[in-house]
Amino acid sequence: TTQTFVTLVGSLRKGSFHAAIASSLPELATKGVEIKPLGSIGDIPHYDADVQAEGFPAAVQAMADEIAKADGLIIVTPEYNYSVPGVLKNTLDWISRVSPQPLAGKPVLIQTASPGNAGGCRAQYHLRQILVFFDAMVMNKPEAMVPQVHNKVSDDKLVDEETRSFLAAQLETFSAFATRINRD
Ligand code: FNR
Repeated sequence: TTQTFVTLVGSLRKGSFHAAIASSLPELATKGVEIKPLGSIGDIPHYDADVQAEGFPAAVQAMADEIAKADGLIIVTPEYNYSVPGVLKNTLDWISRVSPQPLAGKPVLIQTASPGNAGGCRAQYHLRQILVFFDAMVMNKPEAMVPQVHNKVSDDKLVDEETRSFLAAQLETFSAFATRINRD
């Protein structure tokens, strides 16, 4: 393995389309690129500064450590009400308090989907704004927004060939991007 990326899924739903996309990414990556899941955002408690004062919850610390070790983070998330799901934002709020900041200078890839036609694009731009604070290195292009996702996932896997090859190409670009960022 020459590169390891970790995935963070922004949905808790059992049949989540985004979990299906995230779990399909290892098959789409080129040889030498390992992609593995982070823990669930459902295991992260509600952000509370009083709790933080007692020490970071184990699930937060473990996630921060995994991100710090990885060569890049891939966030696969739905759009909720034209923005980022609150449960994902809660996780990012916790991670933002960790020092040293595991996302500082870290290559990040964003992927969204939707049963609708916009593919979650509005959530992408809100997520980019949030990640500015972290000083994360979010790849600009190509963007991956998957519209009509309910027709492209089956048995918890991304099955649409066109989407699979697009995401494979995006991963290849991200791999090169991460190599460049991590070298500097
Ligand atoms: C949605 N959905 C949605 N879709 C979209 O394209 N734009 C949006 O703003 C919203 N808003 C929204 C809010 C809330 C509270 C829910 C529950 C849903 C629909 C959403 O894309 C759809 O439920 C996806 O299937 C969610 O992703 P998972 O859970 O399948 O990964």
